Amino acid sequence: MPSAGAPTSGAREAVEAPDPAFDLSLRPAAFADFTGQARVKERLGILVEAARQRKDVLSHLLFIGPPGLGKTTLAHIVAKAMGATIKCTSGPVIEKAGDLAGLLTSMEEGDVLFIDEIHRLPATVEEYLYPAMEDFKLDIIIDTGPNARSVRLNLPRFTLVGATTRSGLLSSPLLGRFGVPYRLDYYTAEELREVVLRSARILNADADREGALEIARRSRGTPRVANNLLRIAREYAQVRAGNRLTREAAQAALSLWGIDEDGLDEMDKRLLETLVHKFAGGPVGIASLAVAAGEEPGTIEEVYEPFLIQEGYLRRTPQGRVASERAWTKLGVKPRGQPDLFASA
Ligand SMILES: Nc1ncnc2c1ncn2[C@@H]1O[C@H](COP(=O)(O)OP(=O)(O)O)[C@@H](O)[C@H]1O
Ligand SMILES: [Mg+2]
Repeated sequence: MPSAGAPTSGAREAVEAPDPAFDLSLRPAAFADFTGQARVKERLGILVEAARQRKDVLSHLLFIGPPGLGKTTLAHIVAKAMGATIKCTSGPVIEKAGDLAGLLTSMEEGDVLFIDEIHRLPATVEEYLYPAMEDFKLDIIIDTGPNARSVRLNLPRFTLVGATTRSGLLSSPLLGRFGVPYRLDYYTAEELREVVLRSARILNADADREGALEIARRSRGTPRVANNLLRIAREYAQVRAGNRLTREAAQAALSLWGIDEDGLDEMDKRLLETLVHKFAGGPVGIASLAVAAGEEPGTIEEVYEPFLIQEGYLRRTPQGRVASERAWTKLGVKPRGQPDLFASA
């Protein structure tokens, strides 16, 4: 969360679900409606099929990727495909081992336990999870003081699905117990166009393919952002464009909301400007960059940076963050230390 007084940031809001009901109404319920991530989908489809054929429980799964790429959606899709009940919680919510015990003992054979932000699970809780994942056993301490004793409970065989935006913060024992993790990548504009068109159908919005592509191109490779921009563009079209979501309407709407042709919002641009103008392009540590730009370091690392790095605006080096050439070009500034090609002789 941004601290008090920090500027609110469009991308953060766009990437968190500002309206859970809206998010839910657009969430694909089956693999067939889940656009993109072809390899992840194919692999998961095989695991589901194999488990069903053997009448076995699905193995534990870990989804890694930036916010809004479909980790929660996939957890629900997988559970549904298995015909399993899904229970959802998140790392920070499970404070004590007892909370985990409560969740696990209330499950039935084959159920899915989805732990979002699993990197934020307290270390003490994590230790209880290991035997639960490996052997479906839970050691709990009952009573306190001199009467305290450990009791081993048998759990129903279940599937743990974990999701994280920060795989670097996961402990290696936990990572190891998941086997191969599933990494979600940013989507292409063409894939996001399909997401936008599908959502437009659900919302009864009259979007044409060019309008949808325009929204897709500015969505930071992220379905949740695409849906949120669609919502803005739809409102704009309703009031200013006779309800028709064309390319022009989408362009006008998104420009008005401060999202440029490359999909950068005001916070992205502020970050690049800070890096280039205040720190001469870097390298600068994340903490200093965050203070100067007025944003939380965690938000920069989780939401802004991955996209800026992927798009070639910024690099992470051991010395700190460095502006790449594209950042200088974007801001129309000559890169430091480069010959000035435009200088008059
Ligand atoms: N591959 C996809 N195809 C269509 N819509 C998607 C896809 N991935 C995500 N979405 C949409 O984006 C929203 C955010 O996805 P979510 O699973 O909550 O992301 P995460 O859990 O990774 O932050 C969902 O409500 C869904 O509508
Ligand atoms: Mg999620």
